[in-house]
Amino acid sequence: MDKKTVLSAIQPTGDIHLGNYFGAVRNWVDLQEKYKCIYGVVDYHAMTMPYDVSKLRTNTWELITNLMAVGVDAENLFIQSLVPEHTELNWIFNCFCSYGQLTRMTQFKDKSAQVSESGKEDFISVGLLDYPVLQAADILIYKADYVPVGKDQEQHLELSRDIAQRFNFQVGKEYFVLPEALFTETPKIKSTADPTRKMSKSAGEKHYISLFADADRITKQIKSAVTDTGEKNDDRMSEGVENLFELLKASGGKEDYNQLMDDYNTGQLKYVALKEATAKALVTMTGAFIERKKELNSDKKAIKDQVRASSDTIRAIAKETLREVKDLVGLLNVK
Ligand code: TRP
Repeated sequence: MDKKTVLSAIQPTGDIHLGNYFGAVRNWVDLQEKYKCIYGVVDYHAMTMPYDVSKLRTNTWELITNLMAVGVDAENLFIQSLVPEHTELNWIFNCFCSYGQLTRMTQFKDKSAQVSESGKEDFISVGLLDYPVLQAADILIYKADYVPVGKDQEQHLELSRDIAQRFNFQVGKEYFVLPEALFTETPKIKSTADPTRKMSKSAGEKHYISLFADADRITKQIKSAVTDTGEKNDDRMSEGVENLFELLKASGGKEDYNQLMDDYNTGQLKYVALKEATAKALVTMTGAFIERKKELNSDKKAIKDQVRASSDTIRAIAKETLREVKDLVGLLNVK
């Protein structure tokens, strides 16, 4: 039987942090064994929030290099702007998607609030509202069976299914596959500076640890991790300590993890020891990525050539879908 198709994508907003890696990207690497995987660096999506035009392209290539360095195969990668059919399908889908439903999307509400609060920009772009429709195009254009998503993307996947259904109904044919979420147990990494919130770039410098940071920086950030968060009114492990244990386990420090967890259970855990073990495990893991990245960067042109070629191969699928879609909705195809 043919392998099922998995589609996922990530925005090129600077470097990858430990939260992105453990929460998503490492899973991408593993899925490659079992499925036909298509992974996009979605630069059109990165334009939906106020952004710096002089940095976008650099960020895109940087992210491509980072993904390759951690084990994503170049032939599975594409850059969204190299497959412009996504935006054309986006337009067609706009006409199969309810405006009201878009205005009610949680991410749209959160992000438009962010834009307003920043005070710098005084408008919310139509692109931000339309973001999930472009995402539906990303998914459906490859007739993906599965989309590995976290909780925060469930609503977007639901919208993709709605669009696919409305489309199929209108054209009177079960044309699009309804994509399903692929839930995988992945560790949810918190900010070490404030373990009550998830690790994220948007919260600021100290709230994320870059996957490609040097050993000293990682060690410093782990050493300064918050362990006790506010008052303790039960015997649950504090969020900060739990987060360090998660990081230790995720980065492969299994033996240390077991030992330190025993110490915790017997009331003998020393936070310094936990921090030292966590920093060590992380540095060992990331050291290999940094090495690989260095090798890749010794021939930047080779990376660009490879990913342009893979984008082109992947584009062939997108072109075919678009041709069929235009046909089905009554548009003309360029000869
Ligand atoms: N919205 C996703 C995120 O912020 C990124 C994304 C764009 C995506 N297109 C996609 C994810 C298609 C999965 C499938 O994480």
